Amino acid sequence: MQVPFLDLKKVNDRFAEEFSRSISEVLDSGWYILGSSVEKFEAEFADYCGTKHAIGVANGLDALVLILKAFDFNKGDEVIVPANTYVASVIAISQNGFTPVFVEPDEMSFNINPDLIEQKITPKTKAIMAVHLYGQVAEMDKIKKIADKYNLKLIEDAAQAHGAYLGDRRTGNLSDAAGFSFYPGKNLGALGDGGAITTNDSDLAEMLRAYRNYGSHKKYHNIFKGHNSRLDELQAPFLSIKLKHLDADNQRRREIAEIYSSQIKNSQIKLPQMPENKDSHVWHLYVVRCKKRTELQNYLAENNIQTVIHYPIPPHKQQAYKEFNDLSLPITETIHDEVLSLPISPVMEDKEVEYVVDIVNKFSY
Ligand SMILES: Cc1ncc(COP(=O)(O)O)c(C=O)c1O
Repeated sequence: MQVPFLDLKKVNDRFAEEFSRSISEVLDSGWYILGSSVEKFEAEFADYCGTKHAIGVANGLDALVLILKAFDFNKGDEVIVPANTYVASVIAISQNGFTPVFVEPDEMSFNINPDLIEQKITPKTKAIMAVHLYGQVAEMDKIKKIADKYNLKLIEDAAQAHGAYLGDRRTGNLSDAAGFSFYPGKNLGALGDGGAITTNDSDLAEMLRAYRNYGSHKKYHNIFKGHNSRLDELQAPFLSIKLKHLDADNQRRREIAEIYSSQIKNSQIKLPQMPENKDSHVWHLYVVRCKKRTELQNYLAENNIQTVIHYPIPPHKQQAYKEFNDLSLPITETIHDEVLSLPISPVMEDKEVEYVVDIVNKFSY
């Protein structure tokens, strides 16, 4: 049996007919940028997240870049970010001329450890960017208390956690503003790049609508030095179609995660913690840890199971971030040496899940 890490064709084939119809509709409309499809998806996504506003942008990185740009901090101001996040969170900060301040994660959840945030706050700190890594909501209640205490903006990087809940609120509705990615492999993925910002702040939303469109609300009238970062009119209907299935897809991911977590029994492999509240995790990734990661990955590949490392190098050790290369963040560094993501997706079949369990259980080195 072959088990791909993520069979995107199979994910999207489910909607092929609806996609074709929507392509014809856009073609017939003759309107290709910021038209009714984007507007419709924005309304649906805001409704889904429970926020007043959703603003479609070109990708998840831009969503975060534009949020930070709109906050208009000073060059050199600091933004707190988990050290083990995907590098895009950090790029969004540095691209604006702000300084990322790395905080180690909680090893159990892989999310930022709120207890380590306060010691990193300085007079230059302006914001905390919480990342719901691998699909699990960060400890937003604790983080929000700290943000409020120090009068900091709170941003969610929700690129990996569409639809996850904290209590009765979803991601995107837990901060001043949130950035989402619709990169094809995400839980809600387009057939190309896409992203969105959600917020309940109407002034901020108004500003961001201008920022994504050259800084203008009215053609050729520029109130800001903006970007060109718009959600594509052709991608928006694909997202509208898939949004209707997101909760069911997330539920299937939870089922697979539960099978893995209850049936994988191998002392060399550490499984991710199952959250107390199941709804708080949408299992974008199912990440195990193993001290013999290379051997495990090779062994799985020999048995036709594709895996991916999220991520092999932490942001502060990247060549692009030489200025941080000497930082010591031991929890993050160990995590990056040991993590391996097993296949998980809404179209994975039971027999594939069972095969992965069986093969992983037989690993020994
Ligand atoms: C945590 C995180 N933040 C930001 C991004 C950036 O999203 P995009 O690839 O759409 O720019 C990603 C996507 O890979 C991500 O995983």
